[in-house]
Amino acid sequence: MIRNEMLTCLKEAFPNVEFASGEIDKFFKAISLMNPGGSLYAEREKKAYETIHFSIHVVKSINRLSRKREIALLDCGCGRSYLSFLVNHVLKKMDRRVTYIGVDNNAQLVERSMMVRDELGYGEMHFIKSNIIDFNPERNVDIVCALHACDTATDEAIAKGVELGARYVIVAPCCQRQVIRQLGMASKKIWQLKPLLDEKVAREYVGVVLTESLRKLALESFGYEVEMFEFTPARYTPKNIMLRAEKKGSWNEKGYEDYKALRNYFGVKPKIEEYLAQLT
Ligand SMILES: C[S@@+](CC[C@H](N)C(=O)[O-])C[C@H]1O[C@@H](n2cnc3c(N)ncnc32)[C@H](O)[C@@H]1O
Repeated sequence: MIRNEMLTCLKEAFPNVEFASGEIDKFFKAISLMNPGGSLYAEREKKAYETIHFSIHVVKSINRLSRKREIALLDCGCGRSYLSFLVNHVLKKMDRRVTYIGVDNNAQLVERSMMVRDELGYGEMHFIKSNIIDFNPERNVDIVCALHACDTATDEAIAKGVELGARYVIVAPCCQRQVIRQLGMASKKIWQLKPLLDEKVAREYVGVVLTESLRKLALESFGYEVEMFEFTPARYTPKNIMLRAEKKGSWNEKGYEDYKALRNYFGVKPKIEEYLAQLT
């Protein structure tokens, strides 16, 4: 049943692509979202849905890029690389060849992704053990994405996208601890914020919205046009905010003024400033 629902989800996500059920079972088994018996692993069921919903935006963005040149995607904090494998599987069916680079600082996960790559025969996929921020690709990167890269690893991914001049930066952050931790101080300085920040749960909600709004403004400062929305229903993951950014121009003073105003109002110092010095 669950497997059929997942197949339906995939078909709805990519209505112009043919998915034979046997072929999809084989693929999902290879990437370890499905067990040998043909059911989704219970603990990875939600991951399958969120990956499909995230991949829609990646595929759509890649399809806006010219077919005449080689396209490269950088998957930051790729983990088991479900996202990159799925995007590649779908794009191959659309006859699009893309180079994939998955970066993760967990050596075992990188090894694992390489094994799956070899099993699938996806030679265009490369996996590298590195911190996101330290990784310097030898080629142009068109699209940088990060699905639930931990806390400030999302800041590293955004900064890497900006630094590489990627046309698209697509992230769904994992958590916003770094900013949330700093919010206690804001309520001490600005009494009007006290009701908003005194309770832990309220502080966490504010921290989520504040972090993502600051990340959005940071991207806008660097000339990106950014959409912020829920990319998947909350029943699959409460971490369902997506920032989808497209490079449209150069430095945008208005974006930076807004960034500074919001940051200074709450008196926080987002980690992204350590990677993008122009924001300080
Ligand atoms: C929650 S997992 C998500 C993995 C994958 N994107 C997914 O959605 O299945 C976060 C991954 O980011 C990696 N990671 C965390 N911080 C990192 C950093 N600074 N540089 C590189 N990888 C990092 C972790 O090792 C882990 O594999």
